[in-house]
Amino acid sequence: MSHLSTRARVATATVVLALVPLALASGAGAAGKVVYQTTRHNAGTPNSDIVVRKHGLIISYGDSAIIYNVPSPALAATGQALFLQNCASCHGTEANGVPANGTTGAYPNLVGLGPATIDFWIESGRMPAADPRSVQAPRRQPRLTHDQALAIAAWINSLSPSYPAIPTVNVKDANVANGMALFALNCAACHTIEGDGDALAAGTFAPSLRNIPATQVAEAIRTGPANMPRFTGNLSDYQVADIVKFVTTEIQHPNNPGGFGLGGLGPVAEGFVGLLLGVGLLALLGYWVGERSE
Ligand code: HEC
Ligand code: HEC
Repeated sequence: MSHLSTRARVATATVVLALVPLALASGAGAAGKVVYQTTRHNAGTPNSDIVVRKHGLIISYGDSAIIYNVPSPALAATGQALFLQNCASCHGTEANGVPANGTTGAYPNLVGLGPATIDFWIESGRMPAADPRSVQAPRRQPRLTHDQALAIAAWINSLSPSYPAIPTVNVKDANVANGMALFALNCAACHTIEGDGDALAAGTFAPSLRNIPATQVAEAIRTGPANMPRFTGNLSDYQVADIVKFVTTEIQHPNNPGGFGLGGLGPVAEGFVGLLLGVGLLALLGYWVGERSE
């Protein structure tokens, strides 16, 4: 009995996974440009072996796959000044999404998002936004430096300390074959198995992953920017490191000799890999559903 219910749960999870792009498609399609209300508040608490504290404050946590660093509170004053210059016109002087003219709901509240979210949006060049009315703020050449991003993250974090902190991924010890399997299951539906990205509903798109540094890949996975789901408890740090390794080696350097080799197979063979993975998933699903109804 417990056997069946486990299978049923796995089958449900598989269905949910398969429906994610559909749900996004219908949601975004119906509403067009919705008023942005973040659901990412304090995403993911540390499920890790190592927690380093100083004066009672967590300064880093993690395990041998990923160490998450909290930017130093000493940077907060600099960060506040930078925020007032570059961000407050839209997100408000309190970073709560309420600009000087008092309109609520037009811009996201940044308090409680966690340093990884703030760092990702600045270091990927999405923020400060060029056009606040665009459906999806695009990746651009960053306007601020790495140190400035850390300072702004430190100030916002000082308003309400939150997770996740900024990941440093141990790519060296990660497993690229596991990473590919996990990528096929969790990411390829939107980004394609070759990582080139694809259009989603209502003018949004899953971007190409060909040129994204390891830290930002891990940040995207853990924080789920905009229409991307966020993966917290369902992927361990070890699994995230495996995916990051697959993205930063096989996807970004497909002809790397001695690599895992998917890139070298050519489009037809890769199509087959995709087909096999897809059909395999359906076959498993059929098996689980069949088992349940007996
Ligand atoms: C011109 C207006 C504007 C400015 C200036 C601006 N932002 Fe934004 N910000 C936006 C809009 C609009 C969105 C929603 C964009 C989207 O969903 O694609 C956003 C989204 C974000 C998000 C994602 C929020 C979430 O819930 O995931 C973060 C983080 C962020 N901004 C940080 C900053 C920081 C830090 C600065 C300054 C360096 C800044 N922004 C400057 C308009 C602005
Ligand atoms: C439901 C579709 C969907 C799934 C599934 C998905 N993503 Fe995304 N991803 C997106 C969208 C949409 C964006 C762009 C968000 C934005 O620009 O605001 C994105 C952005 C990213 C970025 C940032 C790229 C850039 O241009 O800065 C990375 C890295 C990324 N995804 C990796 C992944 C990985 C790895 C997985 C699997 C663990 C995954 N994504 C699963 C839709 C998805």
